[in-house]
Amino acid sequence: MHLNFPAAIGKAIMSQLQTDIERQADILIIGSGAAGLTLALRSADFAKVTVLSKGDLREGATFYAQGGIAAVLDETDSIESHVEDTLTAGVDLCHKAIVEYMVSRSAEAVSWLVEQGVPFTTKTEKKAKSAIKSNSDDAELSSLHLTQEGGHSHRRIIHATDATGKAVFETLQNRAQAHPNITLLEGCTAVDLVTQTPENGSQPVCVGVYVLNQESSKVEAIRAKFVALATGGASKAYLYTTNPDGASGDGIAMAWRAGCRVANMEFNQFHPTCLYHPHAKSFLITEALRGEGAKLELPDGTRFMSRFDERAELAPRDIVARAIDYEMKRIGCDCVYLNITHQPAQFVIDHFPTIYRRCLEFGIDITKERIPVVPAAHYTCGGVVVNAQGETDIKNLYAIGETSFSGLHGANRMASNSLLECFVVAFGAAHSIEEKIANTNYVQEITEWDESRVTDSDDEVLVSHNWDEIRRFMWDFVGIVRNSKRLERADRRIKLLREEVRDYYIKHKVTNDNLELRNLALVSELIISCALQRKESRGLHYTLDYPNTLSAASDTVLSPSKPH
Ligand code: FAD
Ligand code: SIN
Repeated sequence: MHLNFPAAIGKAIMSQLQTDIERQADILIIGSGAAGLTLALRSADFAKVTVLSKGDLREGATFYAQGGIAAVLDETDSIESHVEDTLTAGVDLCHKAIVEYMVSRSAEAVSWLVEQGVPFTTKTEKKAKSAIKSNSDDAELSSLHLTQEGGHSHRRIIHATDATGKAVFETLQNRAQAHPNITLLEGCTAVDLVTQTPENGSQPVCVGVYVLNQESSKVEAIRAKFVALATGGASKAYLYTTNPDGASGDGIAMAWRAGCRVANMEFNQFHPTCLYHPHAKSFLITEALRGEGAKLELPDGTRFMSRFDERAELAPRDIVARAIDYEMKRIGCDCVYLNITHQPAQFVIDHFPTIYRRCLEFGIDITKERIPVVPAAHYTCGGVVVNAQGETDIKNLYAIGETSFSGLHGANRMASNSLLECFVVAFGAAHSIEEKIANTNYVQEITEWDESRVTDSDDEVLVSHNWDEIRRFMWDFVGIVRNSKRLERADRRIKLLREEVRDYYIKHKVTNDNLELRNLALVSELIISCALQRKESRGLHYTLDYPNTLSAASDTVLSPSKPH
């Protein structure tokens, strides 16, 4: 039989690494998106930092973010209003103190990004980089153009046209690459966390990570004083998603296996408007289009959103996605349409150049034609339970960004609050680590990975079949509208599949694909477990068997030490 687990403790110290992976880091950050790069930059003046990415550095959700970052910058806006909108969108499940914490730091986050050089769009359509010289002046921040998105009662989304994520990522990546204390590594997949429990039985400590070096196909142990999971979400659990490959919930799965609590996984967000075209894989049509006046229409041109919510196209996402799903099933159409043709062509091209160009590649001129759209899995509102500094249940282990559950999003994340959370929690994590680092040492050794009794992965079709099967039944049975029968069916399927996946995993050498499948299967089970536990409909979790919302709102918290 296998192994694919650490060999006996103390047997060997870390092996020589096959390539240039650093064998130890003060802070090891898994993930090179907005959360990971921000933590790296905020920590690099007091620590040696290594950032891992399992693919190309840019292949996370961050690079593809379109709409922008929610922040209170306008004098007619207020922190109270942003807090209130977030609580409303989250259907009374957000943790109010956390919402206040995040929102009250939004201007500071934007100032920092401007200081890094992110070229946000300004009111005069000039890039902020040239318009803004220093960061802390309110007048300078107020030169940024603000757009509108669903659930927000004010214009408060700063953006870089319709490619905000690319602008943020490229700026932070360049900064990180130039910093002598930051090492960025691609093609390195974190497999599992290494933890130790002190002899007195107190809180377990994270001391490193097993990492698959894809170039050498070897799993290496990296020691770290602190580890941060910044691995993004798990929307790849669904057949149709706006996310890039790799959103397989790795951080959530690793944290769970290591003993952390996970919460609110039933709230997977479906974005209402993903481009519907046979060759357009995962292309989002930003909500900012609706913010700038685009209307949703049925194939015959009828508008329908006002029948579902008085905020119409600018209702929170759960409501819009459910309305589209309802209408598509009611009239049996393949998609609905987003129409912005009433705006002047130049306005559309200037505000949405990326979407304009991409749609044109598929033969759709959005200045003249309607855009076919469907909902798709977009964002994981639940995740690893953390506090405002990203601290988890395991000492020296942090979780930041989409992989975490801080309490900000409740039952439905409000548009553009996700990037905000990435920055604010990364700031907090950096501060927390700085306070602890002088009193934290490396462990002397980490047990070497043992693959002496496994064989090469020999039947990849099993991996790809299981992968497809999970994503399809998650879409069909655990999607926008649920019922108990479907959830129970999904539960039976996932338990069986997890057995198969585990059997394959323990007998074969790890590859990026079978690691992702192992994580995706676990995270899907966590989503189903949470969904089965919630006996009501709230926000993104809508079930026909419990259509009402209970008066008392509570989180679904799963603990690895308790059967779920
Ligand atoms: P990501 O940016 O997803 O990065 C994850 C990183 O982890 C990647 O580098 C990946 O390679 C790495 N990784 C994962 N697993 C492993 C592993 N096992 N080993 C090593 N590395 C690993 N939010 C907003 O607030 N505003 C928007 O306008 C917006 N637009 C969006 C548009 C799209 C198309 C999508 C998909 C999302 C959008 N979101 C938006 C959501 C937001 O972009 C994400 O929630 C946010 O970028 C997540 O950042 P992150 O740093 O947590 O993770
Ligand atoms: C979008 O641009 O519509 C996505 C914004 C978000 O996910 O917050």
